[in-house]
Amino acid sequence: MQRKRVAILISGRGSNMRALIEAARNPEYPAEIVCVISNRPGAAGLDFAKAAKIATQVVDHKQYSSREDFDAALHQTLVSHNVDLVCCAGFMRVMTPAILDHWRGRMLNIHPSLLPAYKGTHTHERAIADGAKHHGASVHFVTPELDSGPVVAQVGVPVLPGDTAETLAARVLEVEHPLYVKALALVASGTIHMSTSV
Ligand code: GAR
Repeated sequence: MQRKRVAILISGRGSNMRALIEAARNPEYPAEIVCVISNRPGAAGLDFAKAAKIATQVVDHKQYSSREDFDAALHQTLVSHNVDLVCCAGFMRVMTPAILDHWRGRMLNIHPSLLPAYKGTHTHERAIADGAKHHGASVHFVTPELDSGPVVAQVGVPVLPGDTAETLAARVLEVEHPLYVKALALVASGTIHMSTSV
């Protein structure tokens, strides 16, 4: 089996990144993590990646005058690492259609809601405000329309009486990690692919 070469994009804590790195330590896992790229120099996840001896790179969005320039630099970085697949894991940048077209069907994102519900930010606050009984997380292919690409896998959690955005976020995060590990395996093994007609 030829393992797929994967880059992980982060902006912060990187707990999903960590779950993917740990899963990929198993040589049977169909993906290897070849680099971690952050758009924020201080992202905590970079330290874990470095300690795990994974190549890290910062492409600081503040150094670029436009989204297009930032995305072009990000794209070049991905190409320089000879990457097959890209996993956005708490990567808080909206990307332009040019880069997304290039990585079409080869870029995944994890989103903290049961898509198509609660696209965008503040998903836990909005679920609680709506009195939702179920919430969860989704891994989807990234397409130009925000949080709207085809879903690879989802997992639900209950919203419990007295939940705050923090308690609900923690419950969701716990299921995000195994979800992302499973979803990446499904895509890296070729079990699931995005149809070109989407
Ligand atoms: C996760 O909950 C992820 O679903 C969310 O950010 C958190 C990152 O945590 N992503 C988004 O909101 C993307 N729109 P992590 O850095 O510990 O993986």
